[in-house]
Amino acid sequence: MTEAKLAVRGLTRRFGGLTAVNAVDLDLHDGEVHAVIGTNGAGKSTLINMLSGEIAASAGTIRLEGRDVTRMPQPRRAKVGIGRSYQRTTIFPEFTVLENCRLTAQAQVRPRPWHIWEPSQRCQASLERAQAALARAGLAEQALRSAGSLSHGAKRQLEVAMCLATGPRVLLLDEPLAGMGAEETERMLGLLQELKQGHAVLLVEHDMDAVFRIADRITVMVNGSVVASGTPAQIRVDPVVRTAYLGEEHA
Ligand SMILES: Nc1ncnc2c1ncn2[C@@H]1O[C@H](COP(=O)(O)OP(=O)(O)OP(=O)(O)O)[C@@H](O)[C@H]1O
Ligand SMILES: [Mg+2]
Repeated sequence: MTEAKLAVRGLTRRFGGLTAVNAVDLDLHDGEVHAVIGTNGAGKSTLINMLSGEIAASAGTIRLEGRDVTRMPQPRRAKVGIGRSYQRTTIFPEFTVLENCRLTAQAQVRPRPWHIWEPSQRCQASLERAQAALARAGLAEQALRSAGSLSHGAKRQLEVAMCLATGPRVLLLDEPLAGMGAEETERMLGLLQELKQGHAVLLVEHDMDAVFRIADRITVMVNGSVVASGTPAQIRVDPVVRTAYLGEEHA
């Protein structure tokens, strides 16, 4: 197996007396979708928030390609290649699809203030990034529509495109399939399958059928702790997971 793109060790987050994430170890590899599953409140979003730098870790380390990024603030973490989408939608509905994407792209294009042509060049660079991300996410033809007029599924695709526009090497996706119909789910799964080429993908998801279809590895959290981690075939038959989480449905 290749060296982990993102290596997480002992990652912990306490909120007062509650340990929301408890000494979690996790390795994300290029070319893999690594699903993190668990019941409501298991700590999945808190884990993503620590990986993306939105909240600080109480303990533990996060390494991106060997470099310790644990205390790096969120904007710098995005710049070094950790991109994310959110459980709740973050698009600006009155802006076009392209403008939404461009906003996230813009934040990533390195400013060089001494260069007099910089503003227009930055603009051009972020436009190109945004267009490429939309094309990759299958939204090129919707670019000039207002984001608010997209279907629910297309809005979630846009959120993935906004994440892609930041040029990430690691993609952290928090419930990208939430609220989707069957057809929209298929489209998103196709997109994720493509995106794992060239990215390490962490997928938090409640749709177990989708998870067992697409994940290369699955980590199961219960009350902040990892109770099992392995291939879908291993997780399916894991006795701890079956009693703690899956029930008989996927056994
Ligand atoms: N900012 C916060 N302050 C205090 N407690 C928090 C905070 N954020 C999360 N928690 C608590 O931490 C625990 C884990 O929450 P988290 O949102 O990470 O769960 P989750 O696995 O993403 O759940 P869901 O599947 O419902 O999205 C919960 O008990 C939650 O109430
Ligand atoms: Mg969550």
